[in-house]
Parts: sequence; C-alpha cells; structure tokens
Amino acid sequence: MAVNGKLLLLSIATIALPCAIGKVHLEERFDESWTERWQPSTWKAEENLAGKFEHTAGDWYGHPEADKGIKTTPDARFYTIWTELEEEFVNKGKDLVLQFSVKHAQNIDCGGGYIKLLPTSSKDKMPDFGGDTPYSVMFGPDICGSTKKVHAILTDKKGRNLEFKPTVPAKTDELTHVYTYILHPNNTYQILIDNEVDRNGTLYEAHDFLLPRQIQDPDAKKPEDWVDEAQIPDPADVKPDDWEQPETILDPEASQPEDWDVEEDGEWEAPRIPNPAYKGEWQPKMIDNPAYKGEWEHPLIDNPEFEDDEEVYLLPPLKFVGFELWQVKSGTIFDNILVTDDVEYAARFAEETWGASKDKEKEMLDAVRAEEEKKRKEEDAAAKAAAKDADDGDDDNDDEADDDAAEGNIDFGDEDEDDEGLHAEL
Ligand SMILES: *[C@@H]1O[C@H](CO)[C@@H](O)[C@H](O)[C@H]1NC(C)=O
Ligand SMILES: *[C@@H]1O[C@H](CO)[C@@H](O)[C@H](O)[C@H]1NC(C)=O
Repeated sequence: MAVNGKLLLLSIATIALPCAIGKVHLEERFDESWTERWQPSTWKAEENLAGKFEHTAGDWYGHPEADKGIKTTPDARFYTIWTELEEEFVNKGKDLVLQFSVKHAQNIDCGGGYIKLLPTSSKDKMPDFGGDTPYSVMFGPDICGSTKKVHAILTDKKGRNLEFKPTVPAKTDELTHVYTYILHPNNTYQILIDNEVDRNGTLYEAHDFLLPRQIQDPDAKKPEDWVDEAQIPDPADVKPDDWEQPETILDPEASQPEDWDVEEDGEWEAPRIPNPAYKGEWQPKMIDNPAYKGEWEHPLIDNPEFEDDEEVYLLPPLKFVGFELWQVKSGTIFDNILVTDDVEYAARFAEETWGASKDKEKEMLDAVRAEEEKKRKEEDAAAKAAAKDADDGDDDNDDEADDDAAEGNIDFGDEDEDDEGLHAEL
C-alpha cells in the first residue's frame, strides 16, 4: 500500500517537478497492519511504568482511516516502541530526512513528542530500547511547563549527545503538525514545521562538534615589568599652598544666648559648621602614562587537542526508528513517519498526508469544541434551574449548585466521554 501510494505520487509529481527519486527507507502511515512492523520494548515494563500505543485517528482528523496513527496511553508512563528501516541507511554524501507528524490531542502540559533514529550498532539493545539506548538523532517537540522546544540532538563520533543550541519553539495546540529534520552532506541542517522552513544553519554553529581551534598559550605569562596602567598621577603637580583648610569652623553667626550662665553652663562656645573653604584631600591630577604598553594580550596557540572533522553530518549506518517518551498527560498521536534521502519526496508526502487533511481536521476540532461548549451551557442552565427550584431563600444551596456545574465543566474535556455520540452528531 505504501509503495503504491508512493508510485502514484511520483507519477503525478513528474508533471510538475523535476524528478529526484531517492530512496525511501521507512514510510509508515499506520494502516491496520502496523503491529506487524512495530515492537513494544520491555523497558519499564517490570516496574509497571510502561505505557501503550493505541491505533486511532482521535476525535478530530481529516480522514477517519488514513489519519489513524498511534496514541500514547494511559497517563504518566514511559511509552516505548520501535521498528526497522527497510534497509540500512548510510548517509554519506546524501541528504537525510526524518519526518513525522505529532498531534497533542490531550492539550499537552508535560511530555515528550520526539522520535529517535538509531544506528545498526544498537541492534542488540532494541528489545529493551529505552532512555539509555544509543541513538544517532533525536528530533521533535518536547513540552513541559515553560519549556516548549524542538530538539534536534545529534550523537557525534565519540558517542556524545550534542544538544541543538538554537531555539525552535514547538507547536502547542491540539492539531496535527509535521516536523521535518534534514541533514545535508555540506554539514548544514534544516528544520521544517508544517512543510515550511523554520530554521536552517550549519551543524558547526548549532552543536559543539569541535573544540576551539586555538587556545591561550599555557606557558605565556604577563612579564612582571609590563606596564598596564594607562594613567598615573602627574609627578609635576604640587599641592597649592592654601589647600589645607580645617574641615569645620566655628559658626560666625552664632552668639551666646542671653540667659547663658557661665557659672552653671561653663564657658560658651559657638557651634561648629562645615567650612566652605575646605577642599577635601588633595589629589594630583592624572596624566597619560608614558610607559604604558597597552593591555597584555594572552598569546594564542593552536589547540593540541583540536581535531577537525569535515563530515560532522555523517552518522553511523542507521537501522531503527523509535519513540521513547515520558508524558504526564497522555494522548499524543504520531503518524506518517518518513526516513528518506529525498527532500522533495518528503515535501510531497507531507502535503499529501497532512496538507490535504489539515483544514478538515481544524473544522472538526472546532465542531467538537462548539459541541462541548453547547453541552456545558445546557448543563449550567440545568444546574441553575435545579438550584432555583430547591432554593427557598437559602444561599447555601445556590453555592452547591454552582460547584456542581463547575465540576461538570471540567469532566467535559475528557476525551473518553461519549466519543461515539459526538461523532454521530458531527
Ligand atoms: C548546503 O546544501 C543544501 C542542499 O543542497 C543547500 O540548499 C544549501 O544552500 C547548502 N548550504 C551551504 C552553506 O552551502
Ligand atoms: C539558510 O537559508 C537561507 C535562505 O534560503 C540561505 O541563504 C542560507 O544559505 C541557508 N544557510 C545555510 C547554512 O545553509
């Protein structure tokens, strides 16, 4: 089915597009046969913390069958599942595209939504695929509280997971979004969201692949006689003769009070006030230092530990794709995973699977929300009417009724509630 779909697409595309037919290593649309290809991992199973994936299109979609994907369930679990590429993918000299769609139908507040591409060398670890299994690319949205970002972590040749430094915000709504990661053999990358370039750049800038080419010479020291004072006090400057003045003086305006009794109060003295002629401590003026040599600059040397790598894009041979996620609130639906070296095919695939569905999906979500709003209002009205009936001027009853109505509201968002009824009405 996948192959037919592709052939059909390509034959249409030849009319409009120059044909760049590459290799599709994985094209997963999650039809009914998906369980023949995907394996749950044993990771976290013993601790009863392993979640499941359920085959569903959710409560809003463009097409009830074609838009079926796999949904995380139940809440607060580790969800781990994986599959194999048709053939090992060696990306030397080739573009690498990793693409999939994510629908956070649960209105996610905390949970991963990323996919991992793993090397052939992880083969033995795949049955227990989990957080520690070595991967090559980890790509996609991650949302928790104020963190709402798209990861694009690459594992370098030494096995280090190199964070993606630019900030690419993740989509946080309840609709399907397509995330595309492209690695080019000229050591650049592109991230597309919903088939449009969101970010591009060089891998050298986006990740700490290489150590600095130069470092400060550890053997170099600032010479002891180095003069780095730009200014000095002027040796020719002298303190004016009249500089020194007392800080305070006797108040010349004060006079001895008339009722002053020398016998009793002692000799009268005028109070002291600040001396207007006082100039503070004398400082010679500053002049440019004739011996000044400038700031000492630490000499640089070539970093002996620097290792160049002109092929940081080059990953080990790739063989597996999987999800390894933790979510507080489950309900994310993943679909339409593609691994290929054909950038244009990926764009067409996104258009066919997501582009053609997105307006209908949005309409359906709006209808679901409108229906919920209508029911909520009806319940509110019913609760108010009931409260009024029971109310003989007793305020307490009113409050209780309002509380009930408010609780009814919250329950309404639960997607398990009366699914069939909702659909039938749409
Ligand atoms: C790298 O290759 C891609 C794909 O061929 C191209 O679009 C991009 O402009 C290139 N970037 C640089 C910096 O050469
Ligand atoms: C990023 O995209 C812009 C616009 O297409 C292009 O000019 C630039 O070369 C790209 N940068 C890299 C590093 O490929």
